[in-house]
Amino acid sequence: MKIAVLNGPNLNLLGTREPALYGRESLADIERSLRAVAKELGAELQFAQHNGEGQLIDAIHGLRGKVSGVVINAGAYTHSSLAIRDALTAVELPFVEVHLTNVYAREPERRHSMLAPAAVGVVVGLGAYGYELALRGLTRKLAPGG
Ligand code: DQA
Repeated sequence: MKIAVLNGPNLNLLGTREPALYGRESLADIERSLRAVAKELGAELQFAQHNGEGQLIDAIHGLRGKVSGVVINAGAYTHSSLAIRDALTAVELPFVEVHLTNVYAREPERRHSMLAPAAVGVVVGLGAYGYELALRGLTRKLAPGG
């Protein structure tokens, strides 16, 4: 089973970006741990990060027929981008939304997700471990009887 892991704006700065909020793990560290989990699950990962909304949308379009599902941390676009939700629903790929921080415990503008209404599930507030939970949850959902 192939799964795409997509990351949005500013997540390339993980490790140095507000570490008290986002932790000290870099995106490369997260990718490494996730690849180990994927191996255990018998899944193959495609990992990408884009700062631009259009780049993310193009990346999502390119996933049609190539992967079975998507784990996505769309960063701040989560709160604004109907276009990213439309792209995900257009390619008919089940996805799990993930956030390192508990967005519901932060500023009011982070408490709304444009993506969540179309997501299979949402994981928030558990740091980098949230990516692992999202991957496990998505692969379970995609398995027969899931
Ligand atoms: C984030 C939460 C967003 O509100 C923020 O804009 C990010 C990171 C998270 O992982 O906690 O860039 O998606």
